Amino acid sequence: MKIPKDISNQIRRHLENEIDAGRRFVPLAQVVVSEFMASHEEEAPPEAPVAIIGAEAGSFDSPMSPSRAGADADKPFIETLEGIAEGVASCTACRLAESRTRTVPGAGNGSTPDIMFIGEGPGRDEDEQGMPFVGRAGQLLTKMIAAMGYNRDEVFIANVVKCRPPNNRVPEDDEMAACLPWLLRQIEIVKPKTIVALGATALKGLTGRTDVLISKERGVWNKFKGIPLMPTFHPSYLMRYPPAKVEAWKDLKAVLKLLGKTPPRTGGKGE
Ligand code: URA
Ligand code: SF4
Repeated sequence: MKIPKDISNQIRRHLENEIDAGRRFVPLAQVVVSEFMASHEEEAPPEAPVAIIGAEAGSFDSPMSPSRAGADADKPFIETLEGIAEGVASCTACRLAESRTRTVPGAGNGSTPDIMFIGEGPGRDEDEQGMPFVGRAGQLLTKMIAAMGYNRDEVFIANVVKCRPPNNRVPEDDEMAACLPWLLRQIEIVKPKTIVALGATALKGLTGRTDVLISKERGVWNKFKGIPLMPTFHPSYLMRYPPAKVEAWKDLKAVLKLLGKTPPRTGGKGE
């Protein structure tokens, strides 16, 4: 029995929600667990991850040119982050527009920050406030940023989709593709020195790949449009599985090293 990928993603997200709600035990037959793990194993990339991402400057094939951000060819070229926020606020390029409360374009230092963090998409708190990473995962991200020696205003924080997926489901591939021009234009305007992709979905949305295995690709430097890109775990995953903070902290220290910085204190694990 092979569990189809969309079903297995739904199961994963359901279990994540259960864990977030405080549930710790779910009765499961061993065979179900094995099938579930096997269907995820099949997602493994056939080659070294670095060869697959390979998003060298100019080689990334966007579904829409950044100059057409928002999918409207008549729109003028967007020059500023404020312009992007306005465009996003009225964007209806995908179905997520129907259920959102507020759009969440991103926030922070928009002029060549050391780091741009890219997450998955707004959750309930973000959808209410119009700001990225302000809920529980956001609090952990804020601590991770502080452990690196920055505050939130010094870095830029964005997501691959700017509108909340209903019930915090994973954004669909077509939703991420529809939203990508906004993110690409943000990256062009912000010009971050490094990019940190938080979790598999962020890496998928950013690169357009579908075969991401974050546990294999985290900690491995790549480039996105010429900008050093470090994939690491999503803070929500770190909340559910705290031992992974050790690896996430290694990844963040690698980012600091590339930037020529040292963390303000030693022995941190991102919190
Ligand atoms: N998770 C994300 O990926 N992004 C947010 O903005 C909040 C939670
Ligand atoms: Fe537009 Fe992105 Fe919102 Fe979809 S998620 S409606 S593409 S801003």
